[in-house]
Amino acid sequence: YVLAALIAGVAWLERNALADGWNMPVGVTEVSRHVHGLHMTIFWICVVIGAVVFGVMFYSLFRYRRSKGAQAANFHEHTTVEIFWTAVPLLILVAMAIPATATLRDMYDASEADLDVMVTGHQWRWHYDYVGEDVNYFSNLATPREQIDGTQAKDANYLLEVDQPLVLPVDRKVRLLMTSSDVIHSWWVPDLAVKKDAIPGFVNEAWTRIDEPGIYRGQCAELCGKDHGFMPVVVHAMPQEEFDAWLAERKEEAAAAASGVDRNWTLPELMERGEQVYGTICASCHQAEGQGLPPTFPALVGNQALLDDLERHIDTVVNGVAGTPMPAFSGTLNAVDIAAVITYERNAWGNETGDIIQPST
Ligand code: CUA
Repeated sequence: YVLAALIAGVAWLERNALADGWNMPVGVTEVSRHVHGLHMTIFWICVVIGAVVFGVMFYSLFRYRRSKGAQAANFHEHTTVEIFWTAVPLLILVAMAIPATATLRDMYDASEADLDVMVTGHQWRWHYDYVGEDVNYFSNLATPREQIDGTQAKDANYLLEVDQPLVLPVDRKVRLLMTSSDVIHSWWVPDLAVKKDAIPGFVNEAWTRIDEPGIYRGQCAELCGKDHGFMPVVVHAMPQEEFDAWLAERKEEAAAAASGVDRNWTLPELMERGEQVYGTICASCHQAEGQGLPPTFPALVGNQALLDDLERHIDTVVNGVAGTPMPAFSGTLNAVDIAAVITYERNAWGNETGDIIQPST
């Protein structure tokens, strides 16, 4: 009865605690389900052992209590009992080790991944780098630390948001290469059953294959300084096509940022770059001072018709002029170069208006 009551009590607790989210999550990967299954198997083995040990203890306390006149047995050794209590725990440990080892082996096999992401811990934010894709960014707290209300942050349901989550495709094996730029951090997302230390000077491997699209949350799990508690991990898992579109967009943004198309340039910056572009590309035909080589290459100095007409000027540089030796430069010069050289020409030989042609034009 004691035994049955103990087991039933734990079962009730487990069921209700699970419903309240106190238990380990089942998660959204095959590994996380294995880890959860292992956790529950070992949990129930421990419950049964606990129930047997406490059951026998309480039974003995009650059955052989002093008021019943029980006498303590007095013996020195008992070979059968000793063999029994050595062999049974050994068998239990081996029985637990077999599935545990299989799960561990699976968790550690980060080979043949479809996507590699380098995860670097920083005090106090994560950096994600999609290896070989030219896409990388920091995942910062969405609300600066100083602006987070302390009382609010102590609420168990308060979620720390990031400006950019780690975006991953579902149903793909993703290898996570963990390292750190300063102190030891640990990248932990319970729903993926991934918790891996990010150690400066080392690269640790982990992997995941997420089954369901969704937002999965975790946090840094290694005390790393004063804002350790403000270093959340947010993973946004999406279908492959959506992920591909996202990645392509990020690549475009990165290329735009690298080329300088996405920012506003000042006049001196454009003049400097324009002079350089003019000198290396245009000067060979139109001469260093824009005087040209008439009649084949018209002079630019004083050519107000061209310099004042922005649309025509851009069209001339980008598409060339059909039937003349002026080639199209769209393949040679990027948008910043074109904006710079037109700004330069207009300001050097036009009416000196201080025109700025932005690359986005
Ligand atoms: Cu990073 Cu704790």
